[in-house]
Amino acid sequence: MNTEHPQTLPPAIFLETFGCQMNELDSQLVSDQLRALGYRFTDDWQQADVILYNTCSVREHAEQKVWSRVGILGDYKREHRPDLVLGVIGCMAERDGKDLVRRHPQVDLMAGPAELDKIPHLIDNVLRTQLTDRGGLRAAQIALQGDNQRRATTLQAARDSLELIDLARSFSPERDGRSAYVRITRGCNKYCTYCVVPFTRGREVHRPPASIVEEVRRLVDAGAVEVTLLGQTVNHYHFDTNAAVDVDGVTQPQIGSVIAPNRGTGGPSPVFAPGVTSFADLLRQIHDSVPDLQRLRFVTSFPRDFGDDILTTIRDCPRICPYLHLPVQSGSDRILAGMNRGYTVAQYRDLLERARRIIPGVEIATDIITGFPGETEDDHQATLDLLTESQFKNAYIFKYSARPGTVAFDKLEDDIPDTTKRRRNRELLDAQNAASAIVHARYIGRTVPVFVEGASRKEQKKQQRSRVELGWETPPTSTAVVEATTQLSGRTPTDLITLFDGDESLAGSIVNVRITGAAGLCLFGEMI
Ligand code: 5AD
Repeated sequence: MNTEHPQTLPPAIFLETFGCQMNELDSQLVSDQLRALGYRFTDDWQQADVILYNTCSVREHAEQKVWSRVGILGDYKREHRPDLVLGVIGCMAERDGKDLVRRHPQVDLMAGPAELDKIPHLIDNVLRTQLTDRGGLRAAQIALQGDNQRRATTLQAARDSLELIDLARSFSPERDGRSAYVRITRGCNKYCTYCVVPFTRGREVHRPPASIVEEVRRLVDAGAVEVTLLGQTVNHYHFDTNAAVDVDGVTQPQIGSVIAPNRGTGGPSPVFAPGVTSFADLLRQIHDSVPDLQRLRFVTSFPRDFGDDILTTIRDCPRICPYLHLPVQSGSDRILAGMNRGYTVAQYRDLLERARRIIPGVEIATDIITGFPGETEDDHQATLDLLTESQFKNAYIFKYSARPGTVAFDKLEDDIPDTTKRRRNRELLDAQNAASAIVHARYIGRTVPVFVEGASRKEQKKQQRSRVELGWETPPTSTAVVEATTQLSGRTPTDLITLFDGDESLAGSIVNVRITGAAGLCLFGEMI
């Protein structure tokens, strides 16, 4: 225990999150669980009794940040706080396995993304364990999924305790804002050759639709204005109440039920067996049964399983945002095949065309990996051409990072020099910035509803500076010194960042903004 705290105070936890939105949600759920058990949270790691890093393994860079933190804490524990509990949770824990605690004995607990419900128990075990004589080390507490895929696809999910942490969340608009994430699918079955996710988050598990609708309803009752559904491949969502679970927890399809309909080519909506909820069905159920939900979003979509039924549902439900995040990864068929993406550039273009035809005004964002093994200048040019022609609202561009355990790491040499990756990355960014500017400029003169997220980053920095100049340590309670107008940042239904002046108390509400200007990555406007 930190001796600065009176003995009666419960342990204080510092939790830092790395990586994706899924991790942000996981961190919220872990915090809710721990808060319910009486733990306190602190923003200052030096005041903490327990430090948890919720980690990401998608690229090496994300892992390096955590290793450097773990190294610093090793020294700190040795010199100042041998009792400090250090936990590495999430994807790095699952990927490194027990090897992690062998190499970093200062780590006291580990839990993979599929075992987050065990964390309170693990912390409790560590806190109860006396430090041993061996240099003040404790036996590490470990919960990893490993090869044990007990959490099978459908009905099983309704019973397992990981499902319970989603349902037991306590949402507070004051603490969490008015935008909430809801998981619909965990894990991924795609096995793209570069990607660690199937190995860290396991195979796909779809949550029962009734649980999802119930969770959305509770969030909205508690004050959420916007809900974003999360999954690695949200459009692959399907829940089959006809399915049975055998003694090993493996889902067995009943005769006549459709487990994984092939919806790759679009066209008419597939015919599902009774009892099967598709992603389109789920969207409509949420939209219709939670009428007070103002904005429904979802990420991330996979380009291959995207039927017209989803597109028409988005078109027909006014509170579902017309925005798709559709990672293409490359504009070259040869590279897409090497990545095991399962579609061609022509099929992807067809999906863009269908989406824009069926949902007028839809905006689309994408992800690109540059410098995948064997990528030639022609392959790179094909990706540049795709970015220029597709008019994405933005693109997240990543340099290929070889991840141990993936097929690409084992079978393909990481043969593109970093200087080439960096140059290609820059060229792709330039092409995308030009395309983004065109997309954003189209909004000038329109009036759009904007969900206000709060002060813009520029504004936050400005206020931070003035506080430092005035010698304040905490935010001012009087608004007198803050300028009468604050620059606010929000999002259109199509997910375009919009900056305009207004009062910070508007955060969490939706206001109408007339767009007066546009830059590469944002819109400027006036509230009306
Ligand atoms: N190297 C670089 N980028 C990657 N991504 C996933 N794995 C890797 C990797 N090994 C990118 C993809 C994905 C996004 C979340 O991260 O573009 O869509």
